[in-house]
Amino acid sequence: MGILKGRTSPMITYRNILDVSPDVRGLVRLWRNSPRVRLRMLNQEVISEEQHARWLGSLADGGSLAGGRSEVRVAFSDGTPFGVISLKDVDSNSMVCDWGFYVGEEAFLRRGLGRRLLYDLHEWGFAERGMRKMYTAVLSDNHGALLVELEAGNKIEGLLRDHVRTPSGALVDVYLIAQFSAEWTARREALSTWARIE
Ligand SMILES: CC(C)(COP(=O)(O)OP(=O)(O)OC[C@H]1O[C@@H](n2cnc3c(N)ncnc32)[C@H](O)[C@@H]1OP(=O)(O)O)[C@@H](O)C(=O)NCCC(=O)NCCS
Repeated sequence: MGILKGRTSPMITYRNILDVSPDVRGLVRLWRNSPRVRLRMLNQEVISEEQHARWLGSLADGGSLAGGRSEVRVAFSDGTPFGVISLKDVDSNSMVCDWGFYVGEEAFLRRGLGRRLLYDLHEWGFAERGMRKMYTAVLSDNHGALLVELEAGNKIEGLLRDHVRTPSGALVDVYLIAQFSAEWTARREALSTWARIE
């Protein structure tokens, strides 16, 4: 069955953010700054053009502004950019990394692409990069993301209480969520059906 009922599934492809056009890189900043995405992130500040350029520069240098090695890929649906997946703070000793993802284009929401991005993130981290464990942080009021994360078999490992101050001044809890390579591999086939990979 296709991602869109009655239509052929779109072809989902990825490109390193360092290899996409300046226009697409600019689009990523717009997506990241949209309240729908920004207010779901740990860092909720608006990213300036200069900060965006510095972040891209740090990725090119093999790092991230936070320190650990990070890689970022832009997702395309039939050639149209719509979202982002990232592996962050890759620790090659413990073989663990953080992950991040979002659907940037509003018109692409609720089409099953969040599931697909999450599946492809785990493929990237576990199968391509050989990670032993992957983890992420999700704001407790981000119900849509929590649903997708738990459906994918990720487990809650902790709760950071009153951890993020939002622009309105409210303090929000953050769930720490993780997945182990062995558990993911055991469920990989079922998860590919869940993500509607054909
Ligand atoms: C979370 C996010 C990636 C989901 O993307 P999406 O493409 O809309 O998700 P899907 O279509 O794959 O939805 C899968 C399931 O997740 C749940 N879900 C997704 N968005 C939801 C929402 N806003 N409210 C309630 N449930 C939601 C539903 O169970 C949905 O299944 P259904 O459509 O069959 O009911 C997207 O909303 C997003 O980018 N949010 C902002 C950034 C973010 O939160 N990133 C994740 C940080 S951990």
